[in-house]
Amino acid sequence: MAISRRRSALPGPGVSARTAALRGPAAAALGAAMMIAAADDPAAHDAATGRQKALQCQACHGLDGLAKIPGAPHLAGQVQEYLVAAMRDYRSGARKNDMMTVVMRQLTDDDIADLAAYYANLDPKTKREQ
Ligand code: HEC
Repeated sequence: MAISRRRSALPGPGVSARTAALRGPAAAALGAAMMIAAADDPAAHDAATGRQKALQCQACHGLDGLAKIPGAPHLAGQVQEYLVAAMRDYRSGARKNDMMTVVMRQLTDDDIADLAAYYANLDPKTKREQ
């Protein structure tokens, strides 16, 4: 139990909610395997991790993916690959915006994949309390 409690208390890239929900040594081994898989497989990134990372996007894009400031786009339900490409373009400088460039410079490829998974899986018709 102590192991699983410590594991689930560890936030960070690659540790999904699914991994944190598992218990016991066998689960720890499986969790490690999943983390390795997550390193190469974009589909392994999950929305739960993305939601935590989206706290830094909340002021402008909302946790519901609906724009909160004039000039920011809605992200909820957007095509996942498009979100990844847009974020990479801001990070590389291929696409420029004062606000987005600053935010994206801090993000890794894993962060971008998790965030895209989160926003792509939101229903744009569901406005949530923030
Ligand atoms: C300070 C406000 C602000 C914050 C914080 C912010 N954004 Fe943005 N974002 C914007 C604005 C404004 C645009 C539109 C920029 C443009 O015209 O290119 C944008 C554009 C985008 C786009 C392109 C959407 C499209 O339809 O092309 C994506 C994807 C995006 N943001 C994701 C994020 C993510 C993920 C985060 C958090 C890690 C984040 N943004 C944080 C303001 C913000």
